[in-house]
Parts: sequence; structure tokens; C-alpha cells
Amino acid sequence: MTNNNSKYSKHPETLRSARWYAPDDLRSFGHRSRAMQMGREPSDWEARPQIAIINTWSDINPCHAHFKHRVDDIRRGISEAGGFPIELPALSLAENFVKPTTMLYRNMLAMEVEELLRSHPVDGVVLMGGCDKTTPGLVLGAVSAGLPAIFVPAGPMLRGNWQGNVLGSGSDAWKYWDERRAGNIDRDEWIAIEGGIARSYGHCMTMGTASTMTAIAEAMGLTLPAASSIPAADANHIRMCAASGRRIVDMVWEDLTPGRIITPAAVNNAVTVAMATGCSTNAVIHLIAMARRAGIDMSLEDFDQASRDIPVIANVRPSGEHFLMEDFYYAGGLRALMTRLTDFLALDTVTVTGETLGETLQGAEVYNDEVIRPLSNPVYREGSLAVLRGNLAPDGCVIKPAACDPRFHDHTGPALVFDSYPEMKAAIDDDDLEVTADHVMVLRNVGPLGGPGMPEWGMLPIPTKLVKQGVRDMLRLSDARMSGTSYGACMLHAAPEAAAGGPLALLRTGDMVHINIAQRRLSMDVSDDELARRRAEWTPPRPAFARGYGWMFAQHIKQANEGCDFDFLETDFGPAVGEPDI
Ligand code: FES
Ligand code: MG
Repeated sequence: MTNNNSKYSKHPETLRSARWYAPDDLRSFGHRSRAMQMGREPSDWEARPQIAIINTWSDINPCHAHFKHRVDDIRRGISEAGGFPIELPALSLAENFVKPTTMLYRNMLAMEVEELLRSHPVDGVVLMGGCDKTTPGLVLGAVSAGLPAIFVPAGPMLRGNWQGNVLGSGSDAWKYWDERRAGNIDRDEWIAIEGGIARSYGHCMTMGTASTMTAIAEAMGLTLPAASSIPAADANHIRMCAASGRRIVDMVWEDLTPGRIITPAAVNNAVTVAMATGCSTNAVIHLIAMARRAGIDMSLEDFDQASRDIPVIANVRPSGEHFLMEDFYYAGGLRALMTRLTDFLALDTVTVTGETLGETLQGAEVYNDEVIRPLSNPVYREGSLAVLRGNLAPDGCVIKPAACDPRFHDHTGPALVFDSYPEMKAAIDDDDLEVTADHVMVLRNVGPLGGPGMPEWGMLPIPTKLVKQGVRDMLRLSDARMSGTSYGACMLHAAPEAAAGGPLALLRTGDMVHINIAQRRLSMDVSDDELARRRAEWTPPRPAFARGYGWMFAQHIKQANEGCDFDFLETDFGPAVGEPDI
């Protein structure tokens, strides 16, 4: 098969894979003979784009369980369009099972993707992901590898159901767990909730990190139009997989690389969509990392500013009140949402289709104004996210003002400080714990370095004593992240983190903490002299790893406000996108 269309910029002889298969030499003889060992023929590689399918399936990732079959639909699409599929399995990163936290391994997946693509005879790639860290991990690696890439989102699972109540991933687990701790739900009911909250394959179906990140991938132009909203169990998802397989083959001929798609305007579009969906706070870290890999400088202020301008219009939990991703899909999905944001979006950005974003939105409409609200009737007029600074977090921390009780928007209260998760866990159920609803609960040494890997511990549980009094929200501060399905008055990602010597390390129980969201301030009432005295006494916590990947992680991890990438993977270290060598 040959390609004679002059609009394409790649030709059979310039395919990257031809460097493995075409030369009349001994090494290429090895490649050809070994391909034939697998039953292949010269027509399988001659003038045929070789397409990697990076599959993050595993036997212990419920969000990607269907990838075992969907990969065959992608293969079918690739073959139909004249490519040759090569499945390359990669780290699966199941959010619910990987300890201590998948975030420890996001960069490992990114490195794996980059090196799989660098080292194999492939011309383009289909990225299969969706569970939280898999999306940024795959995209980061593909950006640095620089080959044409298309992202296939796993799709959200179906709505949960328990006794006729709709259940949302994460959010309702936290909610009903508080009711169980308060004694309002018995064990049998709790077990029934366990069986009803996750009814099908697919990723979390709230607007958590998974749904936020796949929406971001689509808004940046990395998926086929509408791909990110399709429920995993919907037959449209199968067709989207095949269509993505067909499309990547043409992307190879067109040499449509991530570098042409991820522009500053495309990143801004992603921020706009993230804000309008009431995004997971994790999106901040991942998007900064992705932008920086693409050589685009991006900071927390970009999010803070966008949050002041862009209303939340996706009425999906946890920011919205009732609806879930399945409802969002029936309401028109992400394309429909973007039609409401055209004043904020750059519509001339290029997508994987080769068309502009504006062209791909043609014909999209909102079918349910309650789920995808008009700008005139938003879920929140502003405040998807705010960045606070002060002597507790000089490099910033983030909070979702819209998701917390307004009485905390301007608050002063005494700190209750925990140095570790086990210390907090041991104290939280103690009826004698000295804590009131006005306290600011603090958990530290749980940042990128301290966690290690910045676990999702930032939504500290409300002390049981207060839960029994009916308290369901209070101010919490940490250098950790929180799940995108979490909610409440949680200040997260404090930077620099305590384990790296950030001033959060110097706070003591009883110090007064001030927060003022309108002024974007977070401070502790401790004098500079006293802070200097405490710093002289401070010793860093013992490193978590003496060897291996964890040791390397600790040497190279950057802080949350910089995206938690490894320093040596950023473009400052050398160009991210280049023609990989054999
Ligand atoms: Fe996989 Fe939530 S556990 S997306
Ligand atoms: Mg999550």
C-alpha cells in the first residue's frame, strides 16, 4: 500500500519505522526475519504506518477493564486505514489499588511511554487511559516523544445506585462514611452501598480527576470530538475506539504531532474547560506539567485568573448538586459545554482531526439546561479554584471556594497540627481531642517529597466528635492533594512542602491561622523572629526510600506549583520534542 496524496507530509520512505525495516543490511534483516517469525509479511510493514497502542489495562484496574477488548476495536480501525497495530502494554496505575499513591508513579508512566516510543519501530501512537494519573502520564510521555498521538479516553462508568438513590464515585463514599461514623447507617446498608457504587467498567463518573483530565485532553485537541464524555459501557465508545484507530494512521501521514496541537492557546482552552466543569484540584498540577513539557510556561496564577472569569456551568458532582457524567453525556457532553464557552475559547486551535476546535463544535447543542447550564444561570458565577499565598505557603496553595461553606471564606482559627497520617488517624476518633469547628486542621509531610508522592489525604476527616455534633465541614490545610471527588474547605498543595523545609513545617498547634479568599491570603500569626527560632530547631524527616525508583523520585521531583514533574524531564533540561534515534 502506498500513499500518493500530496497534502500529506510523510511518505513511505520517510516513515520512522522504515529505518528498522527498509535498509538492505544485517540489522534490518534481523528486524524483518523476526517480524516474519510472528507470522507477518513484508506488506505489513512496507509503506504501512506502524501504530503503537499504549494500553494501560491490567487485571487490577477496574476503570480500564474494558481495554482488554477495546484494544481490538482500535486495532481494527488502524488496519482499516492501512496501518499496522502494535500493542505495547504500560503501567496501569489503578487509582484505588496502587499504594502509597499513584502520583508517585505518574512520572514513571510518562517515562515509560516516552521510552517505549523512542525504542520501538513505530510511527504514531494511540494512548489508552482514563483512570486519574494515566491521562497525564500518557500525555506527558507522548509530548516528549513527539510522534503523532491520539488519546482514547476510557469513559466514565454508569451511575451508581443504592435503594433507588443515585451514587457518585468518591463523593458519596465520603458522604455515607460520615453517616456511618455518626451511627446513621448500619453494616448491611454499608455493604449494599459497596455493591452499588461502581456498577460497570469505566472511570469514576463524578467530575473527579479522571473526568476532568479526559475533558482537558479533549479540550486541548488530543481526542476525537466528543470522545471524553461517552460512557465506557455505551456502544458509541466502541465506535470511538475504532475511529481513533483509523484517524491515527492519517495523522502519521500528515505528521500531525502533539507539538502542533498543544499550543499556548490550546492550553488556555483546557484551563477554560477545567474551570467551567468545576474541575478537580489535581488538574492544576497535571496541566502545569503538561504545558511545561510542551515548552509553555504556565503558573498557578493562570488558574486563579481563569477562575475569576469563567463560571462553573457543568452541574455535575462534586461541584454540582445532583448529576453525574452519564447525565452530562445525555445533555450533549463536552462539545455542548464548549458551545457555551465560545467567548472564552480560542476556536482556531488544531485538533487531532486536522480541523480546528471551532469546526469540530459545529452542530453541537445542549439538550438539558439543568445539567449544562447557560452562562446566565451558572452553578457558581466564579470560584472554581483560588490560589492563596502568605507566610504559610509562599509558593501558593489551592482551594475550591465554591465547594466550601462561605463562613470559611474569611476565617481565623487555631491550628491543630498533625505530622503524619498515622498520627492524625490515631487522634481523629478520640472524644477527648481538643478541637472545635473553628479549628484549622493541618496535616503536613505529605507533599511530593514527604508523602512520598503527594497522596490524596488533603480532605482530612472531620473529627468524629464534631461529626456527631452535626459538623460536616471545617478548614483543613495540607501539602497533600485531594481526590477530585472530594469536597469541603480544604487548602491543598501548600508549597514549598513541609518535608522540603517550607514554612508549613514551622506551624504549631495553637498558632492562629488566617484565611481570606477574596484577598487570596493564607497566613499564620507567628513573628519572623519566632519562625527563625523554630527553623533553627527543625530537622527534615527521614527519606522514605534508600534505593530504587523512590530514591530517584526524591532527587528530582519538583514542587506542586511546578507540576511535580522530574526536573530532568522538563524542556529546560533539553528539547522535549525531537526525532527519536534508533
Ligand atoms: Fe479510576 Fe477513579 S479510581 S478513575
Ligand atoms: Mg480520583
